Amino acid sequence: MLEVKSVNLKRVKVDTLVVPVCEDRDIHTDKLLSSLVDAAKAFPEFKGKKGDVITLFQPAETGIARAVFFGLGKAGSLSGESFRAFAGKAVKFCVNAGLPAMTLATPSAAGLTIEAETLLGALMEGACLGNHIFDRYKKEKEKTPVKKVTFMATAAQKKAYSGLAKSVAAVCGASVMAREWVTTPSNDKRPEAFAEMIQKAARAAGLKTRIMDERWLEKQQFGAMLAVGQGSSAKPRLVSMEYSPKGSKKTVVLVGKGVTFDSGGINLKPSGSIETMKMDMSGAAAVAGTMLAVAHLKPALKVVGVMPIVENMPSGTAIRPGDIIRSFAGKTIEIGNTDAEGRLILVDAMAWAVKQYQPDTLIDLATLTGACVVALGEKIAGVFSADRQLADAIVAAGDRTHERCWQLPLPEDYKELLKNDFADLNNVSSGRWGGAITAALFLSEFIGDTRWAHIDIAGPAWAKKASDYCGAGGTGFGVRLLCDLIGKL
Ligand code: BES
Ligand code: MN
Ligand code: ZN
Repeated sequence: MLEVKSVNLKRVKVDTLVVPVCEDRDIHTDKLLSSLVDAAKAFPEFKGKKGDVITLFQPAETGIARAVFFGLGKAGSLSGESFRAFAGKAVKFCVNAGLPAMTLATPSAAGLTIEAETLLGALMEGACLGNHIFDRYKKEKEKTPVKKVTFMATAAQKKAYSGLAKSVAAVCGASVMAREWVTTPSNDKRPEAFAEMIQKAARAAGLKTRIMDERWLEKQQFGAMLAVGQGSSAKPRLVSMEYSPKGSKKTVVLVGKGVTFDSGGINLKPSGSIETMKMDMSGAAAVAGTMLAVAHLKPALKVVGVMPIVENMPSGTAIRPGDIIRSFAGKTIEIGNTDAEGRLILVDAMAWAVKQYQPDTLIDLATLTGACVVALGEKIAGVFSADRQLADAIVAAGDRTHERCWQLPLPEDYKELLKNDFADLNNVSSGRWGGAITAALFLSEFIGDTRWAHIDIAGPAWAKKASDYCGAGGTGFGVRLLCDLIGKL
């Protein structure tokens, strides 16, 4: 769908040209483009301010049917995210207008505070991601995605950026897959079905993948994961995906929470909290999506995805508060609250992954706590790691991709709150506050001395409303973040 091409606006016919415009500076080098921008700015309603939009039809001495100008505000304020948002808005404009193709007037990075590759990458991402429509469950498909987005480029740029278009398409395609999985309702992604869905995608991408069923989990004594799954008629699955290039020296394991529906269990969630809980497998979706992209990006290190998948339901066979279970690692856990299920499935998956793969780095992604959303809001993920370098690398990847992360602490003395009279640990804190932290501390008890980071994505995994390059529903948060990070580990 993405294409980098040199386009002579005087000679070539262009159906829809979209042009980013700054209010204070000309950001285009093509003379014709600059004169078109001047023509747009001659209208008092268009100044190039952020949010300004104007369309000129059949501008003179060109083969352009329509040129749509988008104001971005002042040039000095522009970041990669500004261009991602612009391209997302532009592609959505075309989708809403029923226009099948769009040519984007790539601005010059000269004089801007971002590099040319960052700029072009951001534009491509916005265009790809903004073009996603989730209408699988609608009889009438109201909108059709744009078929082609052409980025105007010089011959030299064309050479340099055709590869970029491919990698952006791979990463954003994976991000869109993750969105689709998250938005798919729980009745269509019960553990077995979800496991098969992601396995199928991984196989198609050429990854080695395996589904472990409940009998395997019983034999291996995944006591915590099985405990969460025992309330549901749909049995748990553990899925692994491996990307293993020849000669790799390092291994990173990604673990993603895959609760296909979190009712809370016997500690049933109330109305108002339960309605969106189909999104509780967003960590697993992000990890599976990242693996798909990794298969295209081909980094030099070994990357493994591990996804524990369960449905948390209340029933006559469900775990009860007060039950004591034995985890894969051998530690016993008293169930203080059946709604703190994510940490239970994660610790079994992580302890197994450590034993199986001896990773140099272990990262888990999970929609783990409402407390993290209270702390950081709905758009920023919490990062926990005893390894400052790893935490910094994640926060930096978040800044680049605008999948924002903020580090929260792992204070040793708060572990006190997880002590239990009868078992080695309680699955919830005895106190009321710092729930995101105590959840992360609980996880930290199961990873030995592995270099590890936990990312709580309970806020940003889901969007109530559409934004510039994302529709309502699953956001695919984590895929772009992890893809950016993996190259730098
Ligand atoms: N899946 C939820 C966390 C969550 C909340 C995700 C809101 C997305 C949005 C998790 O399993 C959960 O229920 N956590 C409890 C923990 C508590 C029982 C200690 C919570 O946050 O209330
Ligand atoms: Mn829960
Ligand atoms: Zn949950």
